[in-house]
Amino acid sequence: MKNGSSIIHTLDIASSFESYCQTNQISHFVFLIDENTKQSCLPFFNHLNPIFINIKAGEANKTYQKLEYIIAQMSELGMQKNSVLINLGGGVISDIGGFAASIYQRGIRFINIPTTLMAMVDAAIGGKNGVDFNHLKNFIGVFNLPNAVLISPQFLKTLPQNEIESAWSEVIKMGIIYNQQLFNNIHNELDLYEIIKTCSNLKSEITLLDFRDQNIRQLLNFGHTIGHALESYYLSINQPILHGFAVAKGMLFEIDLAQKLNMISIEESKSMKLMIQTKVRVESINHNEFEGLKSFLIKDKKNINSNIVFSLPTGIGKGKWGIELSIESLNN
Ligand SMILES: NC(=O)c1ccc[n+]([C@@H]2O[C@H](COP(=O)([O-])OP(=O)(O)OC[C@H]3O[C@@H](n4cnc5c(N)ncnc54)[C@H](O)[C@@H]3O)[C@@H](O)[C@H]2O)c1
Repeated sequence: MKNGSSIIHTLDIASSFESYCQTNQISHFVFLIDENTKQSCLPFFNHLNPIFINIKAGEANKTYQKLEYIIAQMSELGMQKNSVLINLGGGVISDIGGFAASIYQRGIRFINIPTTLMAMVDAAIGGKNGVDFNHLKNFIGVFNLPNAVLISPQFLKTLPQNEIESAWSEVIKMGIIYNQQLFNNIHNELDLYEIIKTCSNLKSEITLLDFRDQNIRQLLNFGHTIGHALESYYLSINQPILHGFAVAKGMLFEIDLAQKLNMISIEESKSMKLMIQTKVRVESINHNEFEGLKSFLIKDKKNINSNIVFSLPTGIGKGKWGIELSIESLNN
């Protein structure tokens, strides 16, 4: 069992980064950024004259080809065993950068500095790294924890509103499937910084309990079995949708499924769906989307034999993983 990464919450990212580097004797580091974090986030570190690798933004770039490019750049920049890759960006950057660092020269250290709400509450924590393959989400990758995750809400000022909205899906997911208190706190509109702290700590707690995703961590797949297939479908037709929007639609579908299986009451289902649709502007999955996502669902890496595997709520704040259902039973 691996020890957790250190998660550092700060309101002054520049000084926290410098003191982390000093304490951990990090002298050679390279930032991985995308075109937007280059503009909005890298300037926080300008006084360090940062060396960086820059890729295009968005899910369509979380690919094997881009991974190869990053590795070529790491080599070009002379990164060695004691170098550290600093993933400065959203989930796309931490997923692909974590993977690159994990396989470069059999693995070098990496630090995630999440700059989207999605990455602060979820993606940057927990050590799942990877890329999509033939539009299949996270089809290639490794489990490997970052050495540290430095979280600062300073970055959220420049984040577009739809990215904030998208991230609420993962926050609500955590509340529905694992922590009723968090669900209530969202309902009571608790301060966003407190919600980030709670969510990142819960993600870290689950990761420590089940690093390799063999039992309780699977709860976090709630909304993602359908959500990932939907995301893949839209990627495949060159109309990518934000991860969180796909997950929100996935949760709406899977809540109905849980209710049909008598795992939750109608009242619970209503209150879960109301919270999702209050925070994220999404409609339920329509017939065309369901038909489109089916071919990706049958290739989901979680499938057992020909069954699709779900994690579903059994009430607010609790759930069950490993629920196997045939594709035929999932009529929309
Ligand atoms: N590894 C995991 O455990 C895990 C968990 C959840 C999601 N994910 C993955 O994370 C990805 C989604 O993450 P995301 O929503 O952060 O997407 P993202 O990385 O694509 O970032 C969203 C957009 O915001 C821009 N951006 C980032 N920070 C900014 C800032 N501070 N100001 C202005 N613009 C900024 C980016 O350039 C991008 O255009 C998906 O690939 C998903 O599969 C991984």
